[in-house]
Amino acid sequence: MQMNAESRARIERGFAVHRFDRFDRSQDKGINPSDNATLGEVVARRIGRRAAMKGALGASVIASALGPAALASRPARAQARDGAFNFVETEAGIDGTHHVAADHEVQILLRWGDPVLPGAPAFDPYKQSAASQATQFGYNCDYLAFMPLPLGSRASDRGLLCVNHEYASTELMFPNIPSRRGSLEESFKAITADIANVEMAAHGGSVVEVARGADGVWRAVAGSRFNRRITLDTPMILSGPAAGHDRLKTAADPTGTRVNGMVNNCAGGMTPWGTWLTGEENTHGYFWGKLPEGHAETKAQQRYGVPGRWYNWGAYHPRFDVGKTPNEPNRFGWVVEIDPYDPASTPKKRTALGRAKHEGAETIVNRDGRVVVYTGDDERFEYVYRFVSRDRYNPNDRAANRDLLDHGTLSVAAFAADGSMRWLPLVHGQGPLTAANGFASQADVLIEARRAADLLGATKMDRPEDVEPNPRTGKVYIMLTNNARRTAAQVDPANPRAANLWGQIVELSPPGGDHAADVFAWDMLIQAGDPAVAEVGARFHASTSRNGWFACPDNCAFDSQGRMWVVTDQGTEWAKASGRADGAYALTTAGPERGRSRLFFRAPAGAEVCGPMFTPDDTTLFLAIQHPGADGMRDWKAFGRTTSFEDPATRWPDFKPDMPPRPSVVAIVRKGGGRVG
Ligand code: FEO
Ligand code: CA
Ligand code: CA
Repeated sequence: MQMNAESRARIERGFAVHRFDRFDRSQDKGINPSDNATLGEVVARRIGRRAAMKGALGASVIASALGPAALASRPARAQARDGAFNFVETEAGIDGTHHVAADHEVQILLRWGDPVLPGAPAFDPYKQSAASQATQFGYNCDYLAFMPLPLGSRASDRGLLCVNHEYASTELMFPNIPSRRGSLEESFKAITADIANVEMAAHGGSVVEVARGADGVWRAVAGSRFNRRITLDTPMILSGPAAGHDRLKTAADPTGTRVNGMVNNCAGGMTPWGTWLTGEENTHGYFWGKLPEGHAETKAQQRYGVPGRWYNWGAYHPRFDVGKTPNEPNRFGWVVEIDPYDPASTPKKRTALGRAKHEGAETIVNRDGRVVVYTGDDERFEYVYRFVSRDRYNPNDRAANRDLLDHGTLSVAAFAADGSMRWLPLVHGQGPLTAANGFASQADVLIEARRAADLLGATKMDRPEDVEPNPRTGKVYIMLTNNARRTAAQVDPANPRAANLWGQIVELSPPGGDHAADVFAWDMLIQAGDPAVAEVGARFHASTSRNGWFACPDNCAFDSQGRMWVVTDQGTEWAKASGRADGAYALTTAGPERGRSRLFFRAPAGAEVCGPMFTPDDTTLFLAIQHPGADGMRDWKAFGRTTSFEDPATRWPDFKPDMPPRPSVVAIVRKGGGRVG
């Protein structure tokens, strides 16, 4: 997300701003203090800046580094099929509602406040309570997983939708919240304990059974035994190498192994054994207060931006006040594994995957049976991580995979000037990760994964969001959203533009398809932004239409044919990044049209698009439409003022005069049936 100059000025003057501005601000900070050379510096040293900027790192350089066999992992059949999209683009632009490619229809499936659990009251935004919210669909839906029912099938008309609820847009959820005037403290004063508790219940996740009726329409299955809400009250287990460590212990949990809830769950992933991985992202924003002078966690908290003071929960719940509960932040920022097929199961925070501002957590089974999880740390100048399990996936015994993600090796990516990239292991005792540098154990390495990665010399990226393997080709794609703070001196081939408002997609090629290998090759798939404006430096395939280009890739998905779909989040600076609404795009990754993008779906004003997820047969695409009417609405000329509960920029999807906009999951199908897109 981006923030505009006015928002930043307001923050710097100490004025209250929209919660979403504070989110942007956090990601904008780039708090990485390490002096790791950016790749640009590496390149400049090795081959000279001019050569690097001219794109001298071609395939021949990569091939010489890795050998041609390493690059020949893509099956020819998948190559031939890639790019076989079949739809008429919709028009780029911005207005208060959604648009989809011709011959497709958009069904509103689940809205904020819709019933999830039995007894959920009808949604009334004027009388919302924590108790009702805890039984209803939460706010700001992000990642979506579709888990077929029954388990193990490829059913595409019935399944469990697992949904992250990332955060609460308080000013659009509740009447009379000062969103713009007065100090931050004034804004917090309006957020009573009751409102804070509703916010907390609106976070977390939902599991909802959904089914497609004989009429072709998707609906939630009322009263399903699988339905579940996960909130800040849901008991969870901390597992893996950091579990039970002193730094995870609190007065409420002297064992350091139990924690209530998860927060700011952004993107995620599905494991081959049918569990849902969900990434805790901007967890620092939920803490306030001040550590005691000289407290041992001071530096570690600074590295993660704790306390962020976006929410005032600490006023009512001492665990969110670092002065009272200094270790609580260490219990957030993990990848959480949830078994949606067992509604009584206890979610587990998998500490082996490291602590970061996790975006997604996408899994692939390596050719040797080990499980590989890719995850990005979404902040400017942060890193890309990979976890490789110690043990092998057992496709015949689901229970045997239960704790696969507790043992393995976490690594961080370092991109080299020769077009290769190396995975640097975050293993205690290796290299600089020793007691001399404040790492007494692997638990320390994982709790402070960012600092460990700093010391290893990882490459600072332009906000790594989804990092996702294409299961058909084995290539891995990194969505890099943007980085307005990168300077000309810091550009490099993987992050090649200064003041990068638009983002890029980097493609990784594991040698011979080995996702556990130490060294991969990499290439640039696209550089986002308007190709018609030379100064932007966008790179799409020349056949991309004026509707088809995009800015700020955030999440992606591959359908069963291996076709790539990208959704965008331009944040509050959408007007500068593209001047058009966020959307979902079909992106060709191979063949003569590699880099061609087409606009499939366009979001209502102020929304980002999240969670692209297909049914196994590709006949339905689920999208999460997050924070409609929220981002940068002063810059939308048709509205042009501050958006609020009373006066929202759009009332999508209900368009009723007394109903605020509602973040919602939509199901997109082809009219008359058939594969989407
Ligand atoms: Fe929650 Fe990185 O977006
Ligand atoms: Ca995201
Ligand atoms: Ca994804």
